[in-house]
Amino acid sequence: MPNDQEKEAAARASLRFVRDGDIVGLGSGSTAACAIRLLGDKVKAGLRIRGIATSVRSQELAASLGIPIITFDECQQLDVAIDGADEIDPQLCLIKGGGGALLREKVVASAARQFVVIADSSKQVSLLGKFPLPVEVIPFAQILVARRITALGAAVNLRKSPQGNPYTTDEGHHILDCTFGQIPDPAALARVLSDMPGVVEHGLFIGMANVVLIGKGDKVLELSPTTKT
Ligand code: 5RP
Repeated sequence: MPNDQEKEAAARASLRFVRDGDIVGLGSGSTAACAIRLLGDKVKAGLRIRGIATSVRSQELAASLGIPIITFDECQQLDVAIDGADEIDPQLCLIKGGGGALLREKVVASAARQFVVIADSSKQVSLLGKFPLPVEVIPFAQILVARRITALGAAVNLRKSPQGNPYTTDEGHHILDCTFGQIPDPAALARVLSDMPGVVEHGLFIGMANVVLIGKGDKVLELSPTTKT
């Protein structure tokens, strides 16, 4: 089954975690966009939710569908955040940030009572690391940080825009895409990266997912920290 149908099925399955009156974290990327569109349909049909968006792009999409958008000025906690992932390991550790929104995505997920991850089956891996790990850096430090991450054994590339300039995140930072090949201890690497001056955030999401919904063929697998594969 094409990935698009698996993404759509996972996104549709996430709707049952959203209740009337909820504040919902709106993820970024193509799978999250499916969920936003489906939520838009529900809002048109009467569902009352408010959204906090993880990117300008998702904010614009949600607003165009009539989903009211708020900021942290208006809320302390989200009821649920729904977002995609680039890789998901058996412990439900994630690599995120392929779309460049990892910083806001992690902030929003951290503020949600439930973090629901939606993905197609190509994202399920036995070990994280084939997908280049996005590391968001302040431009001033990017060369220094790139050298330090290279010394850890990764191939490091500064993400570029289609025009060839450094890609700039919604928060004005740059992204280093770091290919480790395999990351045997994601938590240890997460600590090393978090401790590196100049790193704003990295795309390892450890112990954050409460539910992972994976479209697989014509089914949707539901994984949670107690049902890890
Ligand atoms: C954006 C992300 C996305 O959730 C991730 O890249 C998955 O994207 P897609 O659903 O398009 O495969 O982390 O920063």
